[in-house]
Amino acid sequence: MKIQFADRMKDYEEGIFQVLNEKKTQMEQQGRKIYNLSVGTPDFPPEQHVMDAVVQAAQKPENYKYALADIPELIEAVIERYRVRYGVELAKDEVMSVYGSQEGIAHICMTLCNPGDCVLVPDPGYPIFGIGPSLTGAQIVPYALTQENGYLPDLEGMDEQMLSRVKCMIVSYPLNPVCKTAPDSFYEKLVPWAAKHHIILIHDNAYSDIIYDGREGKSILRIPGAKEIAVEFYSLSKSFNYTGARMSFLAGNREIVANFKRFRSQIDYGTFLPVQYGAVAALTGSDRMVKEHCAEYQRRRDALCGGLRNIGWQIEDSEGTMFAWARIPDKYDDDVNFVMELLEKTGVLCTPGSSFGSLGRSHVRFALTLPVEKIREAVDAIAHTDMLA
Ligand SMILES: Cc1ncc(COP(=O)(O)O)c(C=O)c1O
Repeated sequence: MKIQFADRMKDYEEGIFQVLNEKKTQMEQQGRKIYNLSVGTPDFPPEQHVMDAVVQAAQKPENYKYALADIPELIEAVIERYRVRYGVELAKDEVMSVYGSQEGIAHICMTLCNPGDCVLVPDPGYPIFGIGPSLTGAQIVPYALTQENGYLPDLEGMDEQMLSRVKCMIVSYPLNPVCKTAPDSFYEKLVPWAAKHHIILIHDNAYSDIIYDGREGKSILRIPGAKEIAVEFYSLSKSFNYTGARMSFLAGNREIVANFKRFRSQIDYGTFLPVQYGAVAALTGSDRMVKEHCAEYQRRRDALCGGLRNIGWQIEDSEGTMFAWARIPDKYDDDVNFVMELLEKTGVLCTPGSSFGSLGRSHVRFALTLPVEKIREAVDAIAHTDMLA
């Protein structure tokens, strides 16, 4: 029987990623050197005391039951972190864990949107920002982020009639993939603007700890009135390299948190308890490694962005995230072809910008996931081609 899959599956074709992966494997088999700057998984390990906490908890048979809920120590640890790190007071019912921000963002609109509701999402933006709402049948309304508008949404320029149909808006800075931050004044304007238009704000705060040149990562929840209309995802994946453990939090408006808990209780039974204990260790430990890793990402940023500028590729310095964002050289008009040619000629693998939305076309994203020496080698490999000429 020919199995007919749901129409939505057409949106999830692997396409170019599969092709690039096959090409990369083929080149590796031929002994070619590959500089994989494509995937955004930190190459640093979690801290030893975090892994110890997981292992210790994993030795206890009682930790293999369904967790069902967050352990109280975990919620306390998040509350304390928000207090100390962000100057935000959270109550216990204003926070819950999720199975990574990816899962959280994929599901939260299930509790907020009906088919036909509009959801504002950044273009370019991290793909789940659009995929999540579209699972509910909501209409995605991209907001353009361009160099001209400082990579900030043009709140005043949005159509009033369209706004009356908007249920939520997804916002995230430092933003993957454009690597820009937003000033305090933007958030101070955004919150009252959203309240005026009855728009729920979903803030993805994945990179508040990976931010450069003395900038400070903050929480949207510090803005007066934010808890009335906003929730924030705060992930341990990038700050603490707890990536594969899948631990992130939803914090903010208590009604949204309560409904999201109710929704998730229908589809899972809570996070493996040893993973919860490891997260407590991460959140209550010192921030020394978090800062050291941020400094190392900044050195890699300098090696990549500075290195590419030195060889004639005009790319802006990332302000945050573990990525760099570059417009492809003028003589190319297709980012996918460019990525393929770059891989073939240099072994450097990056991500085509069009996978982040229509305004990502003609751009590529590099992940800062190799040490400085390797990044320098990658830049050198690019310098020895005719691709920038
Ligand atoms: C902006 C952004 N949000 C969320 C995620 C995923 O986070 P998590 O590992 O918590 O699912 C990523 C991962 O690259 C990301 O770049």
